[in-house]
Amino acid sequence: MIKSNHHYYRYLKLTGKDLKDFDRIVEVGGGCGDMCKFINLMGFKGEYIIVDLPQVQEIQKRNLRDFPNVKWTTKPVKENTNKKTLFISTWALSELTLAWREELVDALKPDNYLITYQRKFENIDNEKWFSGWNGHREELPWIPWDGGSSYIIK
Ligand SMILES: C[S@@+](CC[C@H](N)C(=O)[O-])C[C@H]1O[C@@H](n2cnc3c(N)ncnc32)[C@H](O)[C@@H]1O
Repeated sequence: MIKSNHHYYRYLKLTGKDLKDFDRIVEVGGGCGDMCKFINLMGFKGEYIIVDLPQVQEIQKRNLRDFPNVKWTTKPVKENTNKKTLFISTWALSELTLAWREELVDALKPDNYLITYQRKFENIDNEKWFSGWNGHREELPWIPWDGGSSYIIK
């Protein structure tokens, strides 16, 4: 919850946008569902879609059983120009294969995002992969491993 709180308020501080004002949030790699839970507890009323592995979705479904606005998929989520959409992926997009990342991002075409990535993941140079993403960049200094971690927020 402290981690989710930090993400929430850094996004607000750096963009001036409140996460709960989006119509739709698409999160890739939701972990135990804590970020989704935190955002819902903050008053988010839109649609929240989590893309994750089926086995991990089972954990999220239990943790998020009180929130009927949450949906799950294992497939890329498409862009919807009628819904103001935020893309969230904390230490998840940065851990996927490059082909799967491209598929997810090409489908959604996100304009607003809250990303954290570790600079090096296995043999992938994430600093290079994320270099084309614009937005605010901010170091997470308490995470020195894997070449350090950074936010990209827009
Ligand atoms: C390091 S965890 C990060 C979890 C959470 N976002 C956080 O910040 O604590 C990586 C997440 O990516 C998910 N993941 C792993 N492989 C995936 C795949 N092929 N497609 C979608 N999600 C995947 C994992 O199940 C997990 O939820």
